[in-house]
Amino acid sequence: MAGFTVQQVSKIYDGDVPTVTLKDINLTVQDGEFLCILGPSGCGKSTLLELLAGLQAPTEGEILLEGEQLKGPNRKSGVVFQDPSLYPWRTVEQNVGIGLEIAGVDKAERKSRVDRYLQMVGLQGFGEKYPHQLSGGMRQRAGIARALAGHPEVLLMDEPFGAVDHLTRLQLQNDLLQIWEEEKKTVVFVTHDVSEAVYLGDRVVLLSPRPGRIHRIFGIPQPRPRKRDDVGLLKLQNNIYSAIYDVKTEEDLEFTI
Ligand SMILES: Nc1ncnc2c1ncn2[C@@H]1O[C@H](COP(=O)(O)OP(=O)(O)OP(=O)(O)O)[C@@H](O)[C@H]1O
Ligand SMILES: [Mg+2]
Repeated sequence: MAGFTVQQVSKIYDGDVPTVTLKDINLTVQDGEFLCILGPSGCGKSTLLELLAGLQAPTEGEILLEGEQLKGPNRKSGVVFQDPSLYPWRTVEQNVGIGLEIAGVDKAERKSRVDRYLQMVGLQGFGEKYPHQLSGGMRQRAGIARALAGHPEVLLMDEPFGAVDHLTRLQLQNDLLQIWEEEKKTVVFVTHDVSEAVYLGDRVVLLSPRPGRIHRIFGIPQPRPRKRDDVGLLKLQNNIYSAIYDVKTEEDLEFTI
């Protein structure tokens, strides 16, 4: 397991008009924590996740992973994007094992790891299928198995269940919680769904837009396993909605989540 320290991080995208996407972000993600990042479209959630993954560098400030400054993409983190981007010409098994293949892991070890994680995400028996033969939820599961197969200490997930139907989404949330408990990973999970954030997270970081700043951090003390209709969770959800509508952007623009 591993945790992050984000110190005074800002991200400015260059362009005709430079975009200050994130401003003065200070955040600690604990070892083994399940942290949700919540905020309206365009507030910088994906940017923050890409910074944590080392896929982009902050313009100002620094990010430490396990106490060491992040210098780029690294094997400690496994990333799951909204679109799992599986290679259509590779089988599920070959897609899940691609990172291991690149890392030079031998075939037998690759096969055993891929089988283990396919089983963990409920895709046992589908290894020889091609992505187009899977449902959207199954493709998403394959993307999670691919991230897990690299044995990362941290899972960074960007709206991973955004494109699947509601019932599948609820199931995937429960499966993810089970994996998190079994594998003892640190998870940073981006979503714009308040109920998803409070159901999953130990804490929820609410970002405000333009530029993205930390507006508030909510602790979710409810013990696990949680009930979706738990009165305390619903109350927290309402508090978060109130905080969202209370947010003023620097341009004082209206926004919707
Ligand atoms: N590569 C880039 N170059 C320039 N601007 C960018 C780039 N990536 C993101 N931005 C800008 O940064 C802001 C935040 O984008 P980001 O994708 O991080 O938001 P988000 O919160 O993930 O939104 P969504 O919920 O829609 O996924 C937006 O204004 C976007 O236009
Ligand atoms: Mg995004």
